[in-house]
Amino acid sequence: MARGAAPGIGDGTRRAPPPLESDPMSTVLSAVAWPYANGPRHIGHVAGFGVPSDVFSRYMRMAGHDVLMVSGTDEHGTPILVEADKEGISARELADRNNRLIVEDLVALGLSYDLFTRTTTRNHYQVVQDMFVAVRDNGYMIEQTTSGAISPSTGRTLPDRYIEGTCPICGAGGARGDQCDNCGNQLDPTDLIDPVSRINGETPEFIETSHWFLDLPALAAELGRWLDEREATGLWRPNVIRFSQNILEDIKPRAMTRDIDWGIPVPGWEDQPNKRLYVWFDAVIGYLSASIEWARRSGDPEAWRRWWNDPETLAYYFMGKDNIVFHSQIWPAEMIAQNGEGDKGGEPGRFGELTLPTEVVSSEFLTMEGKKFSSSKGIVIYVRDVLERYQPDALRYFISAAGPENHDADFTWVDFVSRTNNELVAGWGNLVNRTAAMIAKNVGEIPAAGELEDVDTALLDQIRTGFTTVGKLIESHRQRAAIAEIMRLVGEANAYVSRTEPFKMKAEEQRPRLLTVLHVLAQAVTDLNTMLAPFLPHSANAVEKALGGDREIAPMPRIDEVEDLDGGPGYPIITGDYTAVPAWEHRPVTVGQTVVKPTPIFVKLDPAVAEQELERLEAEASDEA
Ligand code: MF3
Ligand code: ZN
Repeated sequence: MARGAAPGIGDGTRRAPPPLESDPMSTVLSAVAWPYANGPRHIGHVAGFGVPSDVFSRYMRMAGHDVLMVSGTDEHGTPILVEADKEGISARELADRNNRLIVEDLVALGLSYDLFTRTTTRNHYQVVQDMFVAVRDNGYMIEQTTSGAISPSTGRTLPDRYIEGTCPICGAGGARGDQCDNCGNQLDPTDLIDPVSRINGETPEFIETSHWFLDLPALAAELGRWLDEREATGLWRPNVIRFSQNILEDIKPRAMTRDIDWGIPVPGWEDQPNKRLYVWFDAVIGYLSASIEWARRSGDPEAWRRWWNDPETLAYYFMGKDNIVFHSQIWPAEMIAQNGEGDKGGEPGRFGELTLPTEVVSSEFLTMEGKKFSSSKGIVIYVRDVLERYQPDALRYFISAAGPENHDADFTWVDFVSRTNNELVAGWGNLVNRTAAMIAKNVGEIPAAGELEDVDTALLDQIRTGFTTVGKLIESHRQRAAIAEIMRLVGEANAYVSRTEPFKMKAEEQRPRLLTVLHVLAQAVTDLNTMLAPFLPHSANAVEKALGGDREIAPMPRIDEVEDLDGGPGYPIITGDYTAVPAWEHRPVTVGQTVVKPTPIFVKLDPAVAEQELERLEAEASDEA
């Protein structure tokens, strides 16, 4: 296979992958951010990485690539511990409960993970500890004494995120001990000006404690080379590449262990149960451990290497912008260190030479009726509540058409209702419905076409071209433009109905033309439905059925209750068989396929819905206040 001539990383053997269109078949890793299991997830989360990663993965499978899509719940760290304390249950109990809720929500939304697991499996613990040891053996973990915060009244350690103060870099108030949301910089709690505990407001006391630090300065040159190479591809969103390069400038060793009693034990420190690996050190390794778990469950335990040890693998990471630093710095640094490719050299650990991200695909934030989501202030819509009241594809449509792809976006109920009614129902739903209804009434099966007129070929050709245009947009993560282009073609097909007026062709001598127009419409709907399948998988299957097909063209994920592979407690996973997808191309309709009177695919919403939802929101917000 001919490859681009971009310079390789380090020793010059690694090559930048070419743009996808030139490569008929690639191995593609879809690495989706792991939702925290500290509570149920709201629509901001699925808008940021859930739906976009699914659209991309479904499309890539249809385009013939070998996709592995992995994620899971992120269950360690302080938020879980604090929430569990509040409820008077153990961290594990809380994580179990939220893991199950999140799994159910993501399946209901139709997200097609090959494996969605969790960070509390024994497999994950082992992989994380092996990574830690490999990184340390290569010399990239340095032990340092640091000042750790404790609560003077309880004597418990006070984790970074639970300390708040003024950011020393940008001067904003309310910066957390781990990160400033205003300027996006990573912080240490001791950097904060006037620190206080977010739990009880007291001033923390700093004590001396020992920790393992990732030697980021020794990995910075290699990180920089990798980022420059990525920049040269022109594929990353400019803000993401710029941010990633900027944070390299002032790079410091970063603690990868914490004073906390919930998390993965630190190899060599098993006698110190109050010290654990930092939640972000462990969570990002989830992409690798989940791939290994997937391989072990598939019966070919080494199969994960195809997505990790082949430098030509394309690895896409999907997340919200508050996660960029962990995916464009910490995780690649861990891999470079494990590979032995930093300034101190070294040998690859048991995972071999790991492939760094091809693209860090980061979205912006979704706000809600103009405000930042906040569970504590009641400004929130949980995925579950939306799915109980509305169709999953209505939410997927809104997110795809109006989500926070490359600038912040606002969810409003008025918008949701109007997008659903004006675009989904009146545009696409109407086209499907009138096509199936006219075929059912006049023929009862998909008719053969007579001779095509210009108006017919003009429509069909435009739609065929759509496969190329829309495919390229999805490959470059411009899903808003992609779905807008499909909806434009839907509009063309509806205009074709108005122009040809098949509903007026009642006379016997008009019948040949009627059959041709209905054939053209069936073909248009079929091709448009193929293009919409990554975005609207539930309705894609319904549309296929409405035209008499019996195939699930958008395979759905399922929940399996599984045993832990290494003897831990069992848990639910999301998995599925997504191999039987139609190709991303024009697919001729089957003439003679039975078509019966259709039922509407999409539910039209009462405009009063917007007011009701707003009232509900206000009621919840005042309950919380
Ligand atoms: N739990 C994090 C969040 O919700 C995302 C973790 S992504 C991982 O922001 F890769 F680190 F797991
Ligand atoms: Zn700041």
